[in-house]
Amino acid sequence: MRRPVVIGNWKMHGSLKEAAALAAGIKRNLFDLAEVDIAVCPPFPYLLDVRDEIENSPVRLGAQDCYWEPKGAFTGEVSVPMLKDAGCAYVLCGHSERRHVLGESNEWVRKKVAAVLAGGLTPVLCVGEKLDERERWATEHVVREHVEEGMRGLSSQQAQDVVIAYEPVWAIGTGKTATPDQAQEVHAFIRKTLGRLFGEGAAQAIRLQYGGSVKPDNVDDLMSQPDVDGVLVGGASLDVESFTRIAKFRRKT
Ligand code: PGA
Repeated sequence: MRRPVVIGNWKMHGSLKEAAALAAGIKRNLFDLAEVDIAVCPPFPYLLDVRDEIENSPVRLGAQDCYWEPKGAFTGEVSVPMLKDAGCAYVLCGHSERRHVLGESNEWVRKKVAAVLAGGLTPVLCVGEKLDERERWATEHVVREHVEEGMRGLSSQQAQDVVIAYEPVWAIGTGKTATPDQAQEVHAFIRKTLGRLFGEGAAQAIRLQYGGSVKPDNVDDLMSQPDVDGVLVGGASLDVESFTRIAKFRRKT
């Protein structure tokens, strides 16, 4: 059975004080949640304070991005060893806002995934189609390319340490969630693609998250889909009670 993984992506929101309070609230509510992997990804300048708040709890720390070189003259960038030093366990790679607002290519995303694995942390490879791509039936083409290119060169062993987040761009921050059936359809397609690339055993072990307007009132249906192993949560992760309810999803059998 794949262990569920729920990650909050705080994006570029909040003050230091708000980040610390959010982390403290999440720790208070989720201190005894044993059966789900939980992480929060604050903005870089808040990592250390959030790390201190969630200490001695099951909540882990994640980063929203990284650079692939371990050190050097790369002004403004943050390396994987630095993130490890700051206490991160997860790093988001190729979030759609980085791909589409900041212009990250598949090649950059691939280098980031490889660097995160080399550093011993867990990459969360984000993949997903834009609205116009879905409308011209290009969803599978785009998602296949994001998965193939993002994981190119990995062994089947390494691939199992990657978490993949399927985030249809049209569902991010829009209040429009993919229906559970739409999410399941793409997750099944991703698992099939992984099977072709890394073998059936690896494909069955790799955890697939859904992201895009996940809320307390839709998480149970999404998590009840056979290939949805977790959720990547933006807006609703900025509220202690919403994120708590999401982390305590109830699968329908
Ligand atoms: P959202 O963001 O939950 O606000 O739609 C999800 C994400 O971008 O990871």
